[in-house]
Amino acid sequence: MAKDIVKIVLIGAGNRGRGVFGQYALDNPHRAQFVAVVEPDNEKRNSFAAEHKIQESGKYKTTEEFFKKNGKIADAVIIATLETERLNIILEAINKNYDILVEKPLGCSIAEIIKITDAATCFKGIFAVCHQMRYMAGYAAIKSLLSSGRFGKIIAMQHSENLSYHHMAHSFVRGLFNNDSMTPMILAKSCHDMDIMRYLIGKRPLKISSFGSLNYFKKENAPKGAPDFCLQGCPAYKDCPYDVQKIYFQEKTDSAYIRQMGVIKNNDQLFQALLNNQFGRCVFKCDNNVVDHQVVQIEFEDGITASFQMAGHNFYERRITKISLTNGEIYFDFNEGMIKACTFSPISEDVFKPAGMEGSHMGGDKAIMDAFVDAIATGERSRIITPVEMSLDSHLMAFAAEKARLNNIVIDVKEFESQCRANI
Ligand SMILES: NC(=O)c1ccc[n+]([C@@H]2O[C@H](COP(=O)([O-])OP(=O)(O)OC[C@H]3O[C@@H](n4cnc5c(N)ncnc54)[C@H](O)[C@@H]3O)[C@@H](O)[C@H]2O)c1
Repeated sequence: MAKDIVKIVLIGAGNRGRGVFGQYALDNPHRAQFVAVVEPDNEKRNSFAAEHKIQESGKYKTTEEFFKKNGKIADAVIIATLETERLNIILEAINKNYDILVEKPLGCSIAEIIKITDAATCFKGIFAVCHQMRYMAGYAAIKSLLSSGRFGKIIAMQHSENLSYHHMAHSFVRGLFNNDSMTPMILAKSCHDMDIMRYLIGKRPLKISSFGSLNYFKKENAPKGAPDFCLQGCPAYKDCPYDVQKIYFQEKTDSAYIRQMGVIKNNDQLFQALLNNQFGRCVFKCDNNVVDHQVVQIEFEDGITASFQMAGHNFYERRITKISLTNGEIYFDFNEGMIKACTFSPISEDVFKPAGMEGSHMGGDKAIMDAFVDAIATGERSRIITPVEMSLDSHLMAFAAEKARLNNIVIDVKEFESQCRANI
């Protein structure tokens, strides 16, 4: 019998935990309810608990405390910590038999990710990786066009992730994902892209090469006289697109940027925070070392080739995907929200905008939560289209690309996986 309301524990009440998964339950109280929260930061924990009417007994500072104290108190856990905090939390959640939705990437090292995927593969509960792009209406439509057979067999794919200049600066220069001591860019940002290529092509990757570097966000490009923080009176602030007043105080500022700074209630508090937090730094004087542009070339099974480009210097934030097939072409641009699907015989040209591409990640965040909650409520596992085996391939592609870039070599993915497994 279907459950009425799926009960969930949130682990990590930061930007994604609070703003995406928490918001889903607030918007859909008839479908999902958070009954406990695990979060070390007092303000975030208390504020999440207040928003979700979680009692004192449902607030935990650490996962050790949470897992030690309880049997199973909910249907599921959502793990929205940073990727540095994954392996033990996942293993404990599996051990307690919680259905699990976990943020991507699954971990910081390939060894960790292999351990997680191996444990999750044997797990009988639901284990969903938050590759929400697979659920996004645009890619769901492309997947069904590919499955229709009308376009023939895939020959090649071009895919790109074009980050807006402010997203690049916020997340990968100043922000949480700016240094490969945690994760390289290709994993932190583009594991979604590796995943969507793997998913749409539907074959395993065989060989990978890659080039790229950190070209621009470096000390030598700082304007003359620029202080360490924008708000310390930078002489270049008028012309600098990265000036914090231009990025963080606009009506269109992404609320995710602000949530990553903590619980910020108004612009005065935001201004005070930016005087000395990491997001207030001059973009040319940060501790960043991840690339600001990278290309990856992949050969998949059946001789299918794919190329991927990530670039951090763009006005429009958008992914662009183009697939060449034996009987047609499929093209998708996030910015237009439009798919163009053409066949050679009979000659046809369809241009359409799939419905439901509103909201964060163009509707993907809501769609993956709908699927996760439905799968738990009804027991219908087919709603989960992000099985962990395929996620392993996406993560392997990212690590292989990074190794290829750093060593200027071509990586054989099967060999790479065997070597990684041998080193565990
Ligand atoms: N799916 C996507 O599109 C997408 C988008 C952005 C970020 N992410 C991923 O989501 C994850 C979270 O990112 P974020 O932007 O929300 O970061 P964040 O820093 O805002 O949130 C992480 C939270 O986890 C808390 N935390 C740390 N250790 C913990 C522990 N042991 N137990 C419980 N909570 C703990 C932190 O205090 C913080 O509040 C990252 O792995 C990131 O790569 C995914």
